[in-house]
Amino acid sequence: MTKTVFMGTGHYVPERVVTNHDLTRWMETSDQWIVDRTGIHERRWVSEGMSGAEMAEHAAKEAAEKAGISLDEIDCIVLATLSPDHTFPGTGCFLQQRLGLPGIPALDVRAQCSGFIYGLSVADAWIRTGQYKRILMVGTEVHSTGLDVSTRGRDVACLFGDGAGAVVLGPSEDDRGILSIKLHADGKYAKSLWIEAPGSCLHPRIDEELIRQGRHYPKMKGRHVFTFALQKMPEVIHEALHESGLSLSDVDLIIPHQANKRITEQVAKQLGVDQEMMFSNIEKLGNTTAASIPLAIYDAQRQGRLKRGDLLVLASFGAGFTWAAAICRW
Ligand code: COA
Repeated sequence: MTKTVFMGTGHYVPERVVTNHDLTRWMETSDQWIVDRTGIHERRWVSEGMSGAEMAEHAAKEAAEKAGISLDEIDCIVLATLSPDHTFPGTGCFLQQRLGLPGIPALDVRAQCSGFIYGLSVADAWIRTGQYKRILMVGTEVHSTGLDVSTRGRDVACLFGDGAGAVVLGPSEDDRGILSIKLHADGKYAKSLWIEAPGSCLHPRIDEELIRQGRHYPKMKGRHVFTFALQKMPEVIHEALHESGLSLSDVDLIIPHQANKRITEQVAKQLGVDQEMMFSNIEKLGNTTAASIPLAIYDAQRQGRLKRGDLLVLASFGAGFTWAAAICRW
C-alpha cells in the first residue's frame, strides 16, 4: 500500500533574535526564571513587514528545492497556523499567491500546536488515495505581534517565537513513510489556552474596552496545560506505536512539539527513554506552535540526527486541547 514520504524540508526564522535579557526591558522577569521554567534562552521575532505567508514562502521554496521538484509540481497546499495573517482568507491562499500556483487547493488547518500533525494526517490520506501527489505542508506562526509584553502577560510572552517550517510530501517508492497517525481533542479545556477577541460571538467583535481589558491577548492556565501535556503526550505516542505494531525500543528519535523543555524532559521520563532520544531546539526558538515540529525536523536533519530508515515519532500537545502523534519510517 502507498505510504506518504517526506521528500524535502525547509525552514525560515526571522533574523531578529530576542533574548530573555531583552524581555526584561518590557516586563518583570529574568533570564534565570525563564531558563529554569522553560529551557528557552532566546526566540526569533519578526520585524515590521514580515508576515506568516512570507516566512512560509521561504520555507516552502527551500523544501521544494530539497525535494528536487519545481514549485509547479506542487498540487496542494496544507498550512497550519493559529496566527493567520488576516481573519480570512486563510494564510494558505496568500502563500499560494506568493508561490505563483493559481488553481491548486489551499487548506488552512486550525489545530494550534497539533496543527502540523493534524495537517499531516489530511495530506497523508490524500496522498494514499492518489488525490494529490506533491503536497506542500507548512506550519507558520507570527506570535510576536500579538503578545502582551508587559508584566501582565509575562507567563505567555516569554514562551512564544515566530518562524515557519515546511515539508513536501509525496508517495513513497519503498517501505519508508508515515506508518500511523493518531489525533485527539478535548474542547472542555478550550479556554485554558486561548485568545478570546476578536470573536464573532462578541458584540462587537472587538472594541476599545475589550482591548483595555487585554482580552485580545493569549491567556493560559500554565499549570493545567503542563499537567495535561504530561499525561497526553506519552499516551498518544504509545497509541500510535501500537497501531503500527511497533514499540519504543524500535524508535530512533522523538520530535515533540517544542512547548517547554521541562515538558519534553518529563515526557522522556514517563516513557522511560533516554533524554538523548528527545529532540529539542526550544533553547533558540521558543515555542513556535504549528511551526515547531517542522522546524525541529529541519534542525534534526541538519544536525545529522535523522537518517534514512530511522523510526521517527512526532508528538504534540496544545490549545484546544489537541494532542497527536505520528510514526514515520524516515
Ligand atoms: N517571569 C517571572 N515570573 C513569572 C513569569 C515570568 N516570565 N511568568 C509568570 N511568573 C510568575 C507568576 O506571576 C507567579 O508569580 P506569583 O507566585 O507571585 O503569583 C510565579 O511566577 C509562578 O507562576 P506559576 O504560573 O505558578 O509558574 P509555573 O511554575 O507554573 O511556570 C509556566 C509557569 C508557564 C512556565 C508553566 O506553567 C508552563 O510551562 N506551563 C506550560 C506552558 C506551555 O507549554 N504552554 C504552551 C503549550 S503549547
